[in-house]
Amino acid sequence: MSQTYQLTLTVRRYDPDRDKRWDQTYEMEAGAILRFVDLFRRINVEQDATLTWVSSCEHGQCGSCSVQVNGWPMLACELLVEHAVELFGTTRFRIEPITVAPVVRDLVVDWEQAYERIHRAKPYVIKPVELPPGVTEFQISPKEIARYEDATRCINCFCCATACISTHRNFIGPNAAMASVVRLMDVREEEKDERLGLLYSEEGVYRCHTSKACTHVCPKKIDVAHFIALAKEGNF
Ligand code: SF4
Ligand code: SF4
Ligand code: FES
Repeated sequence: MSQTYQLTLTVRRYDPDRDKRWDQTYEMEAGAILRFVDLFRRINVEQDATLTWVSSCEHGQCGSCSVQVNGWPMLACELLVEHAVELFGTTRFRIEPITVAPVVRDLVVDWEQAYERIHRAKPYVIKPVELPPGVTEFQISPKEIARYEDATRCINCFCCATACISTHRNFIGPNAAMASVVRLMDVREEEKDERLGLLYSEEGVYRCHTSKACTHVCPKKIDVAHFIALAKEGNF
């Protein structure tokens, strides 16, 4: 039988109906390989049906389950109890929502507002390069794609944006900036000026202090700060 732990989870809660915020503590015994989403589900079933949280894929692919565990932004669907105990050296965990958008209830934030930054970055080809006559598809060489392939693993969980130490309230944030940098490196994109305009604007990459906190917390192991550094150098 796998090891079990006696856990103490303190959750930062918010009830919008009463505009009330408070800390609530739940105690439970849990197996080593349960994930934090499993712990939240068990709280709902066994202790408190009102605790509100969100997940979708539960396979580390949608980014919806991001929360802060002991101040570290993480995916609750990927974090195992045994790994959390090892990482933090404790069985006591403080769970808070991520900080990139207003809290809707408990651990749920307004994802529409968070995504507004991504919409501003336009993470798609705005204006495709015109293909030569007779050519029907873009050919991107392995060398070209290798430059930004890592960034394509981004799931927009906003863990990096939550960890970001930039104090400028208008900074578009690491994942949105990276999305725009990637399209500047994309040989299919002709619209460079609009992207450069955003990256070098008031809300752009010069609001980044090169702390690399974003890289440090990324659950997809993307060196987010590297892409922002490329933009600062104009190295696309
Ligand atoms: S760069 Fe990493 S931490 Fe940031 S949103 Fe993408 S996957 Fe999440
Ligand atoms: S390197 Fe820049 S974008 Fe990344 S966390 Fe630090 S300030 Fe934010
Ligand atoms: S639920 Fe999709 S990444 Fe966690």
